[in-house]
Amino acid sequence: MDFKSIVAVVGEDFAAVDTFIADSLRSQVPLVNEVGQYIVQGGGKRLRPLVCLLAARACGHREGDDHIRVAGIIELLHTATLLHDDVVDDSGLRRGRATANARWDNPTAVLVGDYLISKAFQLVVSLRNITVMDIMAHGTCVIAEGEVLQLINQRDPATTEARYMEVIYGKTAKLFECAAESGASLGNTALQPAFAAYARHLGAAFQIIDDVLDYTSSADVMGKNVGDDLAEGKPTLPLIQAMKLAEPTDAELIREAIRTGGLEHLEQILELVRSSGALDYTMARAKEESDLALAALADVPASPYRKALEDLTRLALARNS
Ligand code: IPE
Ligand code: IPE
Ligand code: MG
Ligand code: MG
Repeated sequence: MDFKSIVAVVGEDFAAVDTFIADSLRSQVPLVNEVGQYIVQGGGKRLRPLVCLLAARACGHREGDDHIRVAGIIELLHTATLLHDDVVDDSGLRRGRATANARWDNPTAVLVGDYLISKAFQLVVSLRNITVMDIMAHGTCVIAEGEVLQLINQRDPATTEARYMEVIYGKTAKLFECAAESGASLGNTALQPAFAAYARHLGAAFQIIDDVLDYTSSADVMGKNVGDDLAEGKPTLPLIQAMKLAEPTDAELIREAIRTGGLEHLEQILELVRSSGALDYTMARAKEESDLALAALADVPASPYRKALEDLTRLALARNS
């Protein structure tokens, strides 16, 4: 199944999430409106809301529109993390257009990001659902911790795979987990842990692939610049593994590039990442995570929704944007 067919499984709800997000972004303050619209209209795959909607349906949730609200809240949180992330990473391109920090400035991006988080929590509270509140409140703390952990690893070539995994489970996988778990909680709550495990591994696979694409894709395809991770001295898995596999002098070059950041040696390092077998290893790790995601759904009753989540997992592995 391709992405369009997966979306079609919850087609109307998926469209309703976008309407909900647009409505939620209305503020009295023109700049909040402007920046909010700008980043949301840039598109984005809306993967996390999709996971949320499919999990809710797979767990038998049928009544009302809470699933749409919860999915929309998740995307607002995601959008806030992107605004903040692009400031932290000093990134210039997102969703095919200038980042908010590039188009406006860092303070604007940070403060509008803060607004989106506050708005998300205002909307969560309005659901009067303590389970969802708990999932979101806990989740956002873990995400922030993940970003801070990443900061600690930055420019540190001694970062291990275990520390890298800890970062990506926090900064990325957790929000996928929140999406699936809160969606599932609207239906058969006995299935909540299965969906949480599913999405955690899906999110990890998704981030590992993102870290590969940062070396192998192009700005045209991805809508963000390649090389951003190396520029910031981020020890992502392709580099961690290349340092293990490359000849000592080559490994030292990578270490130095992580220490200093910058793109001076991008071509050479890309070649080392490829020729050392580090990319193959990294892809295999992503495959392991996606297999764990699929395994977590084993006891979930079969339905078109479960099937869509499985197909999404396979697609996440093969994606190039
Ligand atoms: C980007 O997420 C941040 C990562 C976790 C890699 P997405 O690739 O889902 O971004 P959009 O929402 O589609 O732009
Ligand atoms: C994901 O990390 C960031 C968030 C979880 C917000 P990246 O820094 O790799 O994400 P991109 O590549 O900028 O989208
Ligand atoms: Mg980034
Ligand atoms: Mg990235």
